[in-house]
This record gives sequence, C-alpha cells and structure tokens, in this order.
Amino acid sequence: MTKKAIILAGGAGSRLFPITKIVCKQLLPVYDKPMICYPLATLMLGGLRDLLIISTPKDLPMLRDFLGDGSQLGIKIQYAEQAKPKGIAEAFLIGAKFIGDSGACLILGDNIFYGKLDFFREALAIKSGACIFGYQVRDPQRYGVVEFDKSGKAISLEEKPKKPKSHFAVPGLYVYDQKVVDLCKTLRPSARGELEITDLNLLYLKKNELHVKLLSRGMAWLDTGTQTSLLEAGNYIATIEHRQGLKVACLEEVALRMKFITQSNLAKIIEQLPNGDYRDYLRMVCDEGPTAGPEPVG
Ligand code: G1P
Repeated sequence: MTKKAIILAGGAGSRLFPITKIVCKQLLPVYDKPMICYPLATLMLGGLRDLLIISTPKDLPMLRDFLGDGSQLGIKIQYAEQAKPKGIAEAFLIGAKFIGDSGACLILGDNIFYGKLDFFREALAIKSGACIFGYQVRDPQRYGVVEFDKSGKAISLEEKPKKPKSHFAVPGLYVYDQKVVDLCKTLRPSARGELEITDLNLLYLKKNELHVKLLSRGMAWLDTGTQTSLLEAGNYIATIEHRQGLKVACLEEVALRMKFITQSNLAKIIEQLPNGDYRDYLRMVCDEGPTAGPEPVG
C-alpha cells in the first residue's frame, strides 16, 4: 500500500528555552545541519516521497523557507498548521485530506535514527494494522513504554509511566494502515489535553493489529529533548562524520542515492550553494554518482 508521510515538528521546545525563543527546536543544529534533516532523511531512505510537515503557525514559515516544496530533492512537501499542541495523534486529523485512502507514517521532527533502516522498510511493507518500535533505554519513564510477554508479544503500552513495566521506549516513528484517520476520530483528549499517540496505538493493540518490532542494539535512536541530549546527539553525529568522511542525513546526497534526483540535478543545486564544507562534500558525492560507496544510513 502506498504510504503518505508526516513529520510533526510541533511543540514549544520549552525545555530548550532560551535557544528555542527565536528558532524552533526542529531547526536547531545537530552538529552541521538542522535537526529536521535527520527525520526527513529517514523517511526518504524508506522510499517515501509524499510528505506533510505539520508545525506551529509561528514556526511553519521558517520550515517552509528551509525546505520549500521539496522539488529540489525530488520529493513533494506540503505544510499544515497545528494551532495548539493538542497531541501527536491530532496530526492524522490535520492531515486527513492529505492521507486520503492511503496508509500513513509519522515521524517526530526531533527524533534521530542512525543505523540500518531495514526495520523501517519492513514496517512500511506491512499490509494491514500498525507497526511501532521498541528501543531499550536507561530512562523509559520519559517515553511511551511497551511491555512484552514471554513469547515477545506486546501486551501493554503506557505513556510516560512513573513505574515503567519494561525498559523499552517507543520511538517517535509510527506506521499505520488506512484505518488511522477514522480511529483518531474516536480518540478523546487525555488528562493533559492531548490526543495521545499511545492511545491510538492501544486501539490497534486491542484489535490485535499492532506489530511491535524491537530495534537492535546496533541502532542509535537519539533524543534531542534537553540541552544535554541535544549536545550528545551533535557529538555522536560529529564523531561518525569525522571518522568516515561521510555525512549523515545529507538530504541532497540521500535524494541522489535514492534516485529521486539525477547527477545533473545535483550539479545545478551545487552551483547555488555557498562555498564551504557542505558544497565540497556534495561536489564529491556528485562526482562519484548515485551508487558509489556504502549506502547512507540514518
Ligand atoms: C512523544 C510520545 C512518546 C514517545 C516520544 C518519542 O513524547 O508521546 O510516546 O516515546 O515522543 O520521542 P514527547 O517527547 O512528545 O513528550
């Protein structure tokens, strides 16, 4: 089934104040590029090209300035406002027309995945139901938490529980079939006034239509919610990029490798870029062509 993709770049970024006073969290740098490049690269590497970015009325113009209509990357980006922070699941109501009869995938604009994305491509191939993921973390109480029985079947889901039943957090990457919009219409706001993504996932769990895949230890799922985790994420990306001489989530490179754009499209983009490291890198990528070297991850 074709899947539409949503990036939710909402929230006030209050924990990162004052750096989020002017620029929204998803445009803050994670080492050498704005944060939103990472989740966008993840979607593109999953083969998704029809996208909706949802953000606050204040931040949307900045995101649009940065990414435009996506045509330069061989993708299509539309934009929609979330007027108030009324929850992640509200994104499917805001995006109902965009989704139409398709399935939909959602990634949070502050979630960074680095590693082999087979788990995501497999999830996108699921024909019916929903697929979410589990990732072992030290501090599960900060996240949605999934609990498994002895056979590995998911049996409970809780949003930021005080006493987590497992160490498996649910990352902000979710894949749903075409029932998602109708199911979201049945959700009621939680105590904090939000349509909770965990409640949507619980509806799929109750129908026995929730797949939960564990991400391997070799995957990095990085958090950017606090000053320290943002710095750690930046250092992680810097370490990998320095070691390999390859960039993580370089959108033009991903577009070329995915064959969303051609070498000559990329050459034209490069002509417009200011002199510097990013331009030099893309020059190298362009000269090597779409199939040279290891495939990009993350
Ligand atoms: C949200 C979700 C939570 C999920 C997390 C992943 O929490 O509600 O279930 O584990 O994203 O980043 P938030 O970070 O918006 O508080």
